[in-house]
Amino acid sequence: MTERVVLAYSGGLDTSVAIGWIGAETGAEVVALAVDVGQGGEDLEAIRQRALTCGAVESIVVDASTEFAESFVAPAIRSNALYMDRYPLISSLSRPIIVKHLVAAAREHGADAIAHGCTGKGNDQVRFEVGVSALAPGLKVLAPVRDSGMTRDKAIAFAEERGLPIDVSKRSPYSIDQNLWGRTAECGILEDPWAQPPEDVFVYSADPTVTRTPDEVTISFTDGVPTGLDGRALPLAALVAELNTRAGAHGVGRIDLVEDRLVGIKSREIYECPAAITLLTAHRDLEDLTLERDVARFKRGVDQRWGEIVYDGLWYSPLRAALDAFVDAASVGVTGDVRLRLAGGVAQVVGRRSPGSLYDHALATYDAGDQFDQGDARGFIELWGLPTKVWAAREQRLNP
Ligand code: ARG
Repeated sequence: MTERVVLAYSGGLDTSVAIGWIGAETGAEVVALAVDVGQGGEDLEAIRQRALTCGAVESIVVDASTEFAESFVAPAIRSNALYMDRYPLISSLSRPIIVKHLVAAAREHGADAIAHGCTGKGNDQVRFEVGVSALAPGLKVLAPVRDSGMTRDKAIAFAEERGLPIDVSKRSPYSIDQNLWGRTAECGILEDPWAQPPEDVFVYSADPTVTRTPDEVTISFTDGVPTGLDGRALPLAALVAELNTRAGAHGVGRIDLVEDRLVGIKSREIYECPAAITLLTAHRDLEDLTLERDVARFKRGVDQRWGEIVYDGLWYSPLRAALDAFVDAASVGVTGDVRLRLAGGVAQVVGRRSPGSLYDHALATYDAGDQFDQGDARGFIELWGLPTKVWAAREQRLNP
């Protein structure tokens, strides 16, 4: 029997109804937990109160935006994390930190289960449940939307019946998830992959087709992590927030993706992540300047795997930890400044510099001062091409 449940609470319809729904179904007490991962929007104190009004025995808000930036976003930047080369893992990064706080709250409040409001069709259910099984294998998981028939219509009826303080008319026509690293939108007209997303989908970014005076921004990195904006040192959370505004004003970071979910469905997703796209573009460019060639080539594969693991709900996995060890080692010396022009929906790198730059002007130049001995190239090509040459000679011999 479940006696106490910690519910991942967002303040929206589903999780507000879930408080009473879980109570009615299981007799358990519900502790609501809202985690601030920089989602902005509604005041978290209002959300905390709403959970109590909906019947929670306790309601907790955890300010985790600094932790989210430093322990989840920073490794994602170092790993150039883009699932399917395009999605910066907005929700995929927030679920593991929410799990961590759910588990901590369950221990603190003597709960024997956690609950989430995910459906059975998405990735987030996997991220929650695999995360809990890694951090606290003894905890049960309740998923009322997926497992006990809490459909949208029934949730609305339940809210009306009990007079819950949810204004259904104010609901967005889209399913939204947002945090410091970006904003996701699904459902409604977006389910037609041919339909252009209406402008009302977008909140973090202005229409990129409107002509504006371009902005220029300089981002400083220390060992692969952004540490400064236009020469001002900033904590990562503040830097990302500021860049969301700056780059968002130029429509940077809009992504329209038909995505392969872990559960096998292809789904059409609209993302807005002005800061993420700007920072990932800058970081990748600084790596090109500072990483030795073979490290850089190898790291591309590691980066891709890292993104897939995190997308697939395996944040708390030994492979992620092992890849992070490589990424951390490779990131030492990814230090310097990248200058970008923000205009027309694009963050375009226009310059980069680093105290650890591997760019050697004396080797690269075609002008005076060239120190590259072009004569060396002849022997190099001879040996480099030798296996191919030997193979080609055999082919000629056997198949003239
Ligand atoms: N498809 C994205 C992902 O799996 C976004 C999910 C958004 N989650 C949500 N509950 N609306 O990471």
